[in-house]
Amino acid sequence: MNADEQKKAAAIRALDFVKPGMKLGLGTGSTAEHFVRALGEKVKQGLDIVGVPTSERTAKLAESLGIPLSNLDDTPHLDVTVDGADELDGDLRLIKGGGGALLREKIVATASDRMIVIADASKVVNTLGAFPLPVEVVPFGAAVTARKIAEVAGALGCTGKMSRRADEYGEPFFTDNGNFIYDCDFGTIPDADALAPALNRIPGVVDNGLFTGIATLAIVGTPSGTDIIEKH
Ligand code: A5P
Repeated sequence: MNADEQKKAAAIRALDFVKPGMKLGLGTGSTAEHFVRALGEKVKQGLDIVGVPTSERTAKLAESLGIPLSNLDDTPHLDVTVDGADELDGDLRLIKGGGGALLREKIVATASDRMIVIADASKVVNTLGAFPLPVEVVPFGAAVTARKIAEVAGALGCTGKMSRRADEYGEPFFTDNGNFIYDCDFGTIPDADALAPALNRIPGVVDNGLFTGIATLAIVGTPSGTDIIEKH
């Protein structure tokens, strides 16, 4: 199977964890879209679930498929969130935010009893960091915040180019929450468990794309099927 087929296979296997009556967090990105489409088919066949989307993009797709939707104000406790990742290691630490939805993704995942990651095999790494770490920053004073990010990350052994994300027209990219994203190309992140809270202590940082201690299961598509990585 190629990468997209692996994503789809992982997404379809995630349906095994969905039970009638569940409240589900719906992730963002191409792998999560496979899941939302497969879920839409089940809903058409009568499956009774409610979804809470992690982005406007996912909300639109889910709505078009007839999936009943809610939000965290009305549905603050979710059973399972199914979402993709840009990188994951063997302890289910993740880098997320390649699609720009990291903040809502983390809020929704941590409002859930369980987060299940779905991914193709290329996303599995020994050490996080080859994928540039997205950090969501409020626009006010963003350059100052970016300098502090470099300092804090440097003290934890993470150095590299940081660039403010741009959209396809070269204009600043704004998240669904109206913030900037800095993509930090550290190459390797020796201590993700320390870096994640250290970045979030910087005034102006809203959140970062490191998800540590959140996911408990990953379904990874492989050339020949799917594998499970589980954290006990
Ligand atoms: C969205 O903000 C991200 O966290 C995605 O989950 C991540 O970028 C994975 O995307 P793909 O499933 O498209 O690879």
